Order: sequence, then structure tokens, then C-alpha cells
Amino acid sequence: MRFSTERLILKSLELSFADDFVEGLNNLNVSKNLKTVPHPYAKKDAINWIKKNIKEKKKTKFLFGIYLKSEKKIIGVVDFSINKDNLVARSGSWINEKYWRQGFVTEAKIVVIDYLFKNHKIRKFFTQVYSGNIASRKAIMKLGYKKEGLLRKDAISKATGKIHDVIALGLLKEEWEERRKSLISKFK
Ligand SMILES: CC(C)(COP(=O)(O)OP(=O)(O)OC[C@H]1O[C@@H](n2cnc3c(N)ncnc32)[C@H](O)[C@@H]1OP(=O)(O)O)[C@@H](O)C(=O)NCCC(=O)NCCS
Repeated sequence: MRFSTERLILKSLELSFADDFVEGLNNLNVSKNLKTVPHPYAKKDAINWIKKNIKEKKKTKFLFGIYLKSEKKIIGVVDFSINKDNLVARSGSWINEKYWRQGFVTEAKIVVIDYLFKNHKIRKFFTQVYSGNIASRKAIMKLGYKKEGLLRKDAISKATGKIHDVIALGLLKEEWEERRKSLISKFK
């Protein structure tokens, strides 16, 4: 499965993404905000992660490399997993620091969230963000997610070993119906 937007193609994982993953993830400004990414991050880490995710491919997991058409490279990842029991989808993402603040994660997530709400029986999207990660919290809230609570000392960043308080944020289907109108007109 793949999606195309004005500037991006969301592509299923391929081993050829490994070098671009290293460029994006071998950077503490990115990895310190993620749970499972080591630092330093080498090509073998990228290859192992990509192989594992290709092998484990599940119908409930929607994981894409974010390909920037103008530069013909992968600049990040968006990852959504559906829990079929409660019909809630969890998400995660990163963008190579060179490409921050240009609306790329927003453009990528809009299209997947809209697809999953329309085509799967999902009631809600859910995500967790380290409490100091202002960029991610704002990006998530721009999509219409609302803060639901604070989980104290709930996560450890693999890259730094630091323990973090975590903010939980959620987006209900009825909230998306409202939010999508303004987002989709802006991003088309
Ligand atoms: C969080 C992250 C994915 C955002 O990606 P991005 O493509 O730069 O985000 P966008 O450009 O779509 O930004 C959307 C909104 O988020 C907010 N935002 C993004 N980066 C910000 C920053 N550095 N400071 C303050 N606000 C920021 C803004 O409100 C922005 O909207 P605006 O530009 O119209 O004001 C990126 O910063 C990143 O990869 N960080 C490291 C890894 C990470 O934190 N992943 C998420 C873990 S939960």
C-alpha cells in the first residue's frame, strides 16, 4: 500500500531505505525523543529494524517511509498500529532534522488518519509524547489530538537512557470529522 500527497509518497518499508534512516536517526535531536532507537545509529541497526518489520508484517500495522518527491529520499517514518479489541490506533513518527518545520509529518499523518478512519472501524487515535518534546506535542495537537493525561516516569529513551514523564493524547473519530475539513483544504 502507498499514498501520494502533494510533496510526499508514503511507501512500504524497503531495505533500500537504510542509508536515509541512518541520516535521519543518527542524530540525538531525533532519537532522544524515541523509545527504541539507539545512539549512535548505524546501517546495521536500520537494516535489522527494516527486516524485522517486513517479516512481522501484520494487517493491523500501517508503517510507511516518508519519501520526499523533490529530493528522492526517505525523510522519516509514520507508524500506526490498530488494536482490534478496543478499536484504537496508536501512532509514532520521526522526521530527519534537516526537514523539520515544513509540515511534512502533518501532511503524512493527515492522509493515513483519514484513510484509517474511513476504511477501518477505528474509534480513536492515541499517542504518547515525552513531556519535554514540545515539537511533537504541538504537531500532534495541530492534527486535533487532545491531552488526556500525564504518565509519571513512564518511559526511557534508549538513545540517552533518560527517564521521561509522558503525555497521553487522543483524537476521537467525531473530532476528526470536524478537524479534517480545515486540514485537508490546506494540505491539498
Ligand atoms: C515531532 C516531529 C515528527 C515533527 O515533524 P515536522 O515535520 O517538523 O512537523 P510539522 O512541520 O508538520 O509541524 C506541525 C506543527 O508542529 C509544531 N512544531 C513542529 N516543530 C516544532 C518545533 N521545533 N517547535 C515548536 N513547534 C513545532 C508547529 O505547531 C507546527 O505547525 P506550524 O509550523 O504550522 O506552526 C519532528 O520534530 C521530529 O522528528 N522530532 C524528533 C522525533 C520525535 O519527537 N518523534 C515523535 C515522538 S512522539
